[in-house]
Amino acid sequence: MFYEKKSCRICGNKGLIPYLDMGNTPLANSLIVRSSEINNEKYFPLVVVYCPTCSLSQLSIVVEPSILYNHYIYHSSISKTFHEHCKQLAEYISSIILKGKIGFCVDIASNDGCLLTKFKNLSHKVLGIEPAKNLAKLSISTGIDTYNDFWNKKTAEKILQSYSHADIITSTNVFAHVDNLHEFLEGINILLSEDGAFIIEVPYMSELIKKNEFDTIYHEHLSYFLIKTLKILFEKHNLKILDIQKLPIHGGTIRVITVKYSNNNLSINKKGIDKFLNEEDNNGMYDIHTYKNLDIYAKKIKSEIFSLITNIKRQNKRISCYGASAKGITLLNYCKINYRMIDYIIDDTPQKQNCFAPGSHIPICSLKKLLESPPDYLLILAWNFAEEIMSKTKFYQNNGGKYIIPIPEVRLYEYSSK
Ligand code: TMP
Repeated sequence: MFYEKKSCRICGNKGLIPYLDMGNTPLANSLIVRSSEINNEKYFPLVVVYCPTCSLSQLSIVVEPSILYNHYIYHSSISKTFHEHCKQLAEYISSIILKGKIGFCVDIASNDGCLLTKFKNLSHKVLGIEPAKNLAKLSISTGIDTYNDFWNKKTAEKILQSYSHADIITSTNVFAHVDNLHEFLEGINILLSEDGAFIIEVPYMSELIKKNEFDTIYHEHLSYFLIKTLKILFEKHNLKILDIQKLPIHGGTIRVITVKYSNNNLSINKKGIDKFLNEEDNNGMYDIHTYKNLDIYAKKIKSEIFSLITNIKRQNKRISCYGASAKGITLLNYCKINYRMIDYIIDDTPQKQNCFAPGSHIPICSLKKLLESPPDYLLILAWNFAEEIMSKTKFYQNNGGKYIIPIPEVRLYEYSSK
């Protein structure tokens, strides 16, 4: 079901240093569909280790992808913020990378086809690669050509036989999920045209550390990247970094644009890349002590949330949550918060509703529940969408409802007192 990863997945170093142990936790996206399944939940160790050679942080174990991704409930399209993000990415690639040319754009782990729809709207030819059967089916039904499989060399070869080389390959929020990154990039080298570009978006480890986003550490996220690490990885696979952009989405993401070494059509932003590397060094990102501090901050947030919730419960007040996101599930489990303290979790994803949160066993409900049975406090687990969530729950705050935001530090919002 899982195996222990004893060496660095990028540079092979065996001298890895553990720095954060979040205990045994269930899989954050494996929602419990029937209450009878509660007793059969599987728990896996959640420990992060640091490679002092290339500065990669990675999980100490790898859970079998077939267990993690067979039926994946995460739907990209649920958030307006994400739609806007995809639209901007497609427009950026269209104008700056493709320079107005119509291209063949392939998206790896295309989810429900959110990004590809934006490419299609700009007249590009598109193809999604999506391992989850339910999501591949969903995106095909909306008119997005989708190949249902994991990305690897074999998939790249198959696609090349049936289609052509890709002008653009995107992989947003998937790189961190991949165990064999070397094979992943061998596949990119097969499918990417000589003058094409490969663009990834991944959570940025510098931001995770800066904002204490320890709840974004869960079994699907195998690796936590810095630019230094990515540069080492790409250089092993005939890819050079052209440019890097920092984006606010998902609590702090980096977009990294790469091309094959032989491609000199676009200029390299060397100054920009060096700035990232210098900042990483100056912020202690190549020093194990920085990572050990994350453990201290995580424990501090855990004890603050736990005592805040215990105090609220002592006053016989009610608490609910918003956003059954993987990070939310992780936070609840790490902080030992369960169905005895929280009435329900609101989530707008229809597939999540009527399920139970892994580990904490809190029922997941639609927004209607907030109207019918408003709590005194709403803990926003999907804190990366806090603004969007607060604005869609104006009715709740206008009736005196309060919010708790857990990350980067525990904060209380009491609109009624203003
Ligand atoms: P994410 O941070 O992993 O993208 O997950 C966000 C979760 O929050 C996901 O389960 C969907 C949920 N959500 C809503 O239910 N309503 C909303 O308006 C937003 C922004 C998110």
